[in-house]
Amino acid sequence: MNFSIKEFLIDTFDFIRQNPAISYSLLLIVVLPLVLYYNTTSIINRLGDDGAVGQSINDQAAINRDLLTMMLLPAFPGKDSLDQEKLQRIVDSVATYGNDPAGTDGATTTAADEGTKLENIRVIVRDDYIFKAVAAQDPQKVGKAINTDPSLNGENLIALAWASAKKDYGAQIEEAGKKYFRIANPLRDPATGEVYAVVTADISTDKIMTQISATIIQAYIILVIAILLSLFLVFQHTRLFSYVGLSKKLLAQNKAKDDFIRMATHELRAPVTIMNMYTETLKEELAPVVNKDQKEYIERVLMSIHNLRDLMSDILEVSHIQQGRTDFKPDKIQPATIIKEIVNGIRPKAVEKGLSLVFEGEDFPHYINVNEVCFKRIITNLVENSVKYTPAGKVTVSIKAETAKKRGVITVQDTGLGISAEGQAHLFEQFYRVKTQDTESIPGTGLGLWMSREMARRMGGDIMLESIEHMGSRFFVWFPLADK
Ligand SMILES: Nc1ncnc2c1ncn2[C@@H]1O[C@H](COP(=O)(O)OP(=O)(O)O)[C@@H](O)[C@H]1O
Ligand SMILES: [Mg+2]
Repeated sequence: MNFSIKEFLIDTFDFIRQNPAISYSLLLIVVLPLVLYYNTTSIINRLGDDGAVGQSINDQAAINRDLLTMMLLPAFPGKDSLDQEKLQRIVDSVATYGNDPAGTDGATTTAADEGTKLENIRVIVRDDYIFKAVAAQDPQKVGKAINTDPSLNGENLIALAWASAKKDYGAQIEEAGKKYFRIANPLRDPATGEVYAVVTADISTDKIMTQISATIIQAYIILVIAILLSLFLVFQHTRLFSYVGLSKKLLAQNKAKDDFIRMATHELRAPVTIMNMYTETLKEELAPVVNKDQKEYIERVLMSIHNLRDLMSDILEVSHIQQGRTDFKPDKIQPATIIKEIVNGIRPKAVEKGLSLVFEGEDFPHYINVNEVCFKRIITNLVENSVKYTPAGKVTVSIKAETAKKRGVITVQDTGLGISAEGQAHLFEQFYRVKTQDTESIPGTGLGLWMSREMARRMGGDIMLESIEHMGSRFFVWFPLADK
């Protein structure tokens, strides 16, 4: 187990070293979730207690504190002339107003904002060193002594505000499972600065907190999704890695296969040539003494040798093309002369079968751009096919120029076996041969047409055909015309 992990790591490291481009992707895969994580956590931190939330609550508190102070102060015309009823009325109106932001009594609309409202408003005085409420939103709290022990949920703010005569006292408290921000403000004589009373109220922070926790949860969900997506990316990437490895392996295997084909065909060439040579000699020398059957046997051996030779050279050529080792560099050639030579070369075979083989187009004036060797292979293949698959009649080769399309078209037409629609659909595939009673005894590899079309296409041309079974076939091959 340990060993395989070690091996995996070594392999991975090697792979990365061999494919430096992948290190950027790896970097992205690591950096992306980190950035997302950092972003999310920093946003959450900024929303936290000392951050934006605290700030927003403080702002609310400051506004409410000033407002309360402003409204309550007129109820204290002098130090000892406290109008308790008036105070209670003001407290009640602030409380109602706080719960009804539309402001039914036409008051200005700043006290209660969305998410915050004033609760537990109390105006507290000190009587014989005992704090007690003289007006309160909750009437039951009026007149009762208040314990300002610091251990009690924010009540010490009252004593602090009183003693220091400073405003801006506030603290977070919790009451009956709900969160509040308690504020306390001294009410002072504008002239002497002496403290008359302390006003305190609670701002509910529940709603704002719920909103924030929803935001935080949402941020975390998005973070988790982003990390999952990144992991998926990593997974995809590792799969891609294995594909790259696989394709490298395939390339290597392909090369090994090609090397093998090259080696095998090369090694086989010498023995096949020797077999061919000696069999030909035997055929000649034994001619006077062999009987009809023996002569037939020798012919069959020879035919097999020839088929083997054709197969070897075709396979070699296919592998050449597939490896991109075939030279397709175009020459400017005069096709008529070359076609004439090819046709003359094949004619004896045609005559032997009792066919007529003609070339119409000796006066073709144009040049075409093709590689001469490939061009010869293509035309030879097509003309040999027509001769091969035509039991009787005529094979006609012709050439004409389609100047509008800037191409020269060579037609090889025969009165032979023809090819069924099904056959036509597969004709240009490797090793495909039409299987009928007529073609049964005709040797071949099924590679000629594949090679011919491949070569034609690589040189800017193509091959097409028209054929009717039992009537004959017409193959067209075209190449780009060269400028004069
Ligand atoms: N002129 C033709 N007339 C009839 N059939 C043809 C002709 N040319 C090709 N074919 C069919 O197409 C098949 C594939 O041709 P080709 O690729 O040249 O392979 P091969 O000639 O070695 O069999 C042949 O086996 C034959 O059945
Ligand atoms: Mg052929």
